[in-house]
Amino acid sequence: MGEQRQILLTNINEPDQNTLSAAESRGAYKAIRKALEMDPLKIIDEMKASSIRGRGGAGFPTGLKWSFVPRDTGKPVYLITNADESEPGTFKDRALLERDPHLVIEGMLCSAWALQSNWSCIYIRGEYAYPYERTKRAIEEAYEKGYLGENIFGSGFTHHMVIHRGAGAYICGEETALIESLEGKKGQPRLKPPFPAVAGLYGCPTVVNNVETLANVPWIIENGGAAYAELGVENSTGTKLVSASGHINKPGVYEVGMGYPLLQFIEEECGGIKDGNNLLGVIPGGSSTCVLTADECKGVNLDYDSLKNAGSSLGCAGFMVMDDTTDVVEAILNLSHFYSHESCGQCTPCREGGHWIEKIFRRIAEGDGRPGDLELIENLCSQIGGHTICAFGDTMVLPYRSFIQKFRTQFRERISEVLKGIERKRNPMDFEVGGVH
Ligand SMILES: Cc1cc2nc3c(=O)[nH]c(=O)nc-3n(C[C@H](O)[C@H](O)[C@H](O)COP(=O)(O)O)c2cc1C
Repeated sequence: MGEQRQILLTNINEPDQNTLSAAESRGAYKAIRKALEMDPLKIIDEMKASSIRGRGGAGFPTGLKWSFVPRDTGKPVYLITNADESEPGTFKDRALLERDPHLVIEGMLCSAWALQSNWSCIYIRGEYAYPYERTKRAIEEAYEKGYLGENIFGSGFTHHMVIHRGAGAYICGEETALIESLEGKKGQPRLKPPFPAVAGLYGCPTVVNNVETLANVPWIIENGGAAYAELGVENSTGTKLVSASGHINKPGVYEVGMGYPLLQFIEEECGGIKDGNNLLGVIPGGSSTCVLTADECKGVNLDYDSLKNAGSSLGCAGFMVMDDTTDVVEAILNLSHFYSHESCGQCTPCREGGHWIEKIFRRIAEGDGRPGDLELIENLCSQIGGHTICAFGDTMVLPYRSFIQKFRTQFRERISEVLKGIERKRNPMDFEVGGVH
């Protein structure tokens, strides 16, 4: 519990791990052989017993999601791996696809057998050119070896897999927008219900899971759901990949047992704050989660409940560290530019409101802030959150609100500098992405 532990990254730094022969020599494709001898429903029971929650951000229990898929409807069941990974601060799925793609493919195969799905797709963000090439080659190798296609491992089970590149839209990570995009339409979220498990791709039952979620499945099959549930803490079982970036000495991808202490993670895994500076705050779960101040980080652990109790969330664990040299106005302007650019435009509050908010943050940063601007942004946030089809609007306002609430003094000072005629040199944010640790 709360220690550094490896399930997913065990072989990730082996330079040939992307090839089938090397991956197999280190144990890949053992779990699928075992899975194919198990009753598919028993696998779903193991997933439930593991209590694993989806790693794409929402934390929905995976076994429960799988159990919603209706059987014997006469329609095909589709499995989609969500590799869109476009949330600022998040780059963990890239590491798996680039360096250990057979782990993901095997996880998908085991899941496909459990769901009785004969077709799956990896939807990968368009900008991930290298992970795309690596994963595509791994799929080809699996076909060449007979691990994909007809009669896999002599079991009679047929499974086909494709990899599909997105075209650079963050919203296509939202599962129903992803499905629209795969169907060849504009990537815009659908109203739910119906949820994809019941009516997804081409109206057929569809399971959409994150890369990391599915990469855990082989371990769960080999070791059992109960063993997985023993890792981590209550309500947050297993390990978590963390994409750590910002003002730390060792940015990169880490795997820790759920419940790992947040400040210890910065000090011991990430090598502490850069240049001997002090911690200002952390955005722990990716850009769509609330910022925590240094004080609020005390006693907090990297798991769902602890971060929720602290007023933020684990999200997809895009862990962004800011030291006390950070210009918070520039930092939030950077994020608001991202969100206003990425809104799909379907819902007016998100499309228009997000754009207005960026304009207001920009004028504050550029020295044209007005008294009442913070209240205006807060008002706009309340008109966006809860008023859109998908969670983009709801989550976009979380960093805005929390930055203003927690760093109000800095925002106020910046606005009042204008009134006093003080000129300031701008200091935009700059992030560095490291290796896999
Ligand atoms: C705007 C937006 C972007 C999202 N981007 C991703 C993404 O890149 N990858 C991902 O796995 N989930 C993403 N999600 C969450 C998915 O909609 C979905 O919950 C997830 O893929 C389910 O997989 P999981 O249960 O394994 O977490 C996003 C959600 C929203 C609202």
